[in-house]
Amino acid sequence: MKEAIIDQTLTAIIRDVEIPTPQPGQVLIRVIVSGTNPKDWKLPKWEPDRILNQGDDIAGYVEAIGEGVVNFRKGDKVAAFHEMLSPNGSYGEYAIAWEHTTFHLTEKTSFEEAATIPLAAMTAALGLFQRLKLPLPWLPADKPTPLVVYGGASAVGAFAIKFAQLSNIHPIIAVAGKGAPFVETLISREKGDTIIDYREGDEAVRAGIRKAANGIPVHDAYDAVSEKGSYLNLSAVLDTPGAITVVLPWTDYGSYEDIEIRRTMVGSVHAPPAEGQTLGDKEFGAAFFQFIGRGLAQGWFSGHPYEVRKGGLGAVEGALKDLEAGKASAVKYVFRIAETEGLQQ
Ligand SMILES: NC(=O)c1ccc[n+]([C@@H]2O[C@H](COP(=O)([O-])OP(=O)(O)OC[C@H]3O[C@@H](n4cnc5c(N)ncnc54)[C@H](OP(=O)(O)O)[C@@H]3O)[C@@H](O)[C@H]2O)c1
Repeated sequence: MKEAIIDQTLTAIIRDVEIPTPQPGQVLIRVIVSGTNPKDWKLPKWEPDRILNQGDDIAGYVEAIGEGVVNFRKGDKVAAFHEMLSPNGSYGEYAIAWEHTTFHLTEKTSFEEAATIPLAAMTAALGLFQRLKLPLPWLPADKPTPLVVYGGASAVGAFAIKFAQLSNIHPIIAVAGKGAPFVETLISREKGDTIIDYREGDEAVRAGIRKAANGIPVHDAYDAVSEKGSYLNLSAVLDTPGAITVVLPWTDYGSYEDIEIRRTMVGSVHAPPAEGQTLGDKEFGAAFFQFIGRGLAQGWFSGHPYEVRKGGLGAVEGALKDLEAGKASAVKYVFRIAETEGLQQ
C-alpha cells in the first residue's frame, strides 16, 4: 500500500509499505478520506528526526479487527482518531486506530465530513468538559454560564461552540475574524451569544468581551488559539476565580492571580490515567466518540466545513504548507485517498 510521510521541509514522501496488521484492541481501516490538522505541519518541524505519516483523522471502512475487538467488524463504515505519533496514520491506504477511538457512521454522514471530526472535536470536548468541567450535554446548564471561545472559526473552537450549544452554555462570546460569517451560523443571538472581531486589536477584544458579558461574571474560556496574545487578553478580562483551557503544548502561558491555565492535549485519550486516577480521559474519549457518532446519525451534531484537496496523497504537501501559511479560515483540508496517482485499486 502507499502512504505519505512528512519531513521537516513539509515534503510529503509517498512510499510503498506493507499493509499493517491490527494488534489486540485495534482496528484496521481502509481509508477513504483523510483529514488534516495543524499538528501535521508543526510536529515535523519541532521533531525533525521523526519522519512520520502524520494523518490522524480517518474515515473509511473496517478492513480487519485485532483480538478482543467487539464493536466492529469488516465492512463497517467508521471514523476514527489515530494515535498521534504512532505508525500507520491516515495518510495512507490503510490506517490503524484503537477500538475506543473509533465510531460508526451511517449513510447520512459523508466520509469527507467525518474526516473533519475526530481530533478537533475530541479536543473541544476534553477542554470543555474534562478541563473546564462545564455541564455535560445530558445535564445541561440551567443558569447563565458565559463562555469565551477564542478562535470560534477554528475547527477546535467551532466544535467547542457546538458542544456548548448542546449543553445550553450561554452566552457564548466567540472571538473570530474572517470566519465570523461561519461562526454566526453556530451561535444563538437570542440567547445572548455574540462575536468579537480580533482584527480590531487587543484593546477592542478586551472591551468587546466585557461588553458582551453584559454584567454577568465570565469565569471560563476555551482558548483554541493559545498564541498571538489570546490568553493575555483572556486573563485580563475573566472574572475570578477563572479558568482558561489552552491547546499549545510547549508554551509558557505565565501565571495569573486566581485564573488557572489548564492544558488540553487530545493525546490524553490514548494515555494511561493520570496519577491517582483509575479512570480518566481515555474513558471520556471512549464514551464521547460514541456520543459524536450518535449526534451525526441523529442530526444534532455535524462536521466542520471542508475543502477536498485534489490528488489524494499527492495533495498532502500543498495542504500542509497552506495550513502553515495560515490560509485555512473556517475550513478543514481533506483528501480522497483513491485520487492518489499510481494506486492499484
Ligand atoms: N492540544 C491539542 O490537543 C490540540 C488539538 C487540536 C488542535 N490544537 C491546536 O489548536 C489550534 C487550532 O487548531 P484547529 O485545527 O482548530 O485550527 P484551524 O481550524 O486550522 O484554525 C484556523 C482558524 O484559526 C483562527 N484564528 C487564527 N488566529 C486567530 C486569532 N488571533 N483570534 C481568533 N481566531 C484566530 C482563524 O479564524 P478566522 O478565520 O476567523 O480569521 C481560522 O479560521 C492550533 O494551534 C492547533 O495546533 C491543539
